[in-house]
Amino acid sequence: MAYMTLKDIDVRYDKKKQVLKGLNLEVKEGELVSLLGPSGCGKTTTLRVVAGFIEPECGVFSIDGEDLTKVPVHKRNFGIVFQSYALFPHLNVYDNVAFGLKMRKLDKEQIDRKVRNILEVCGLAEFDHRFPQQMSGGQRQRVALARALVIEPKLLLLDEPLSNLDAKLRINMRMEIKRIQKKLGITTLFVTHDQEECFSISDKVAVMNQGVIEQFDTPENIYQRPDTEFVARFIGFENFLTLNKACK
Ligand SMILES: Nc1ncnc2c1ncn2[C@@H]1O[C@H](COP(=O)(O)OP(=O)(O)OP(=O)(O)O)[C@@H](O)[C@H]1O
Ligand SMILES: [Mg+2]
Repeated sequence: MAYMTLKDIDVRYDKKKQVLKGLNLEVKEGELVSLLGPSGCGKTTTLRVVAGFIEPECGVFSIDGEDLTKVPVHKRNFGIVFQSYALFPHLNVYDNVAFGLKMRKLDKEQIDRKVRNILEVCGLAEFDHRFPQQMSGGQRQRVALARALVIEPKLLLLDEPLSNLDAKLRINMRMEIKRIQKKLGITTLFVTHDQEECFSISDKVAVMNQGVIEQFDTPENIYQRPDTEFVARFIGFENFLTLNKACK
């Protein structure tokens, strides 16, 4: 049973080139699905539609059968880590992470327990009083992740959330994301350029090409049984046999 559904989504920026072309995607509850594809194919745009930053020209986005296509961002209750989705510069790390819980009017002790726990998980316990401008890019990314995870959202949207981290930290953080995601059963859409990261973390992978999904399958099947030449080439196969009349 699908939990999150994108149905026949069309998006055009400035009434010009069509960026998403009747895109369809069905994600089950608790699944981690990655969007993989070349630069400009529409991955971030897809996440923007799901987050509610843009409304599609046509098509429907729904969760659990409820049509959310026209529901504004702040009413969707999703955890979002976009590269452009900045931290609040005037709040320290603790308050940045606590923000969503305060908005939800949790009591002080509950907030403190949840914030301390997630800061610990993200390796930020000692940074609780720092302000964003006093931190490295990778540390800020982890604050953004902590802020998204702490509200235990029903949907988590991650657009290159680990791009500023060094290799070792990146592997640790991706294991943490996976662990927390599984523990809390959060349905997740993940965008990465790193294929190894994508294949290791995902339950399923959607390979995108020019505004459509070419193949949606498990990492094993994408790798072992690519449906199209585009998918095969994208994941790195280089030799193709052309079966034409001469072969008969
Ligand atoms: N605000 C915008 N206005 C006009 N065109 C846009 C806008 N945002 C994105 N585009 C165009 O839409 C297309 C899809 O962009 P999108 O950001 O979704 O790609 P992407 O798959 O996330 O790429 P990348 O891997 O480089 O992040 C691109 O051709 C891009 O130039
Ligand atoms: Mg992008």
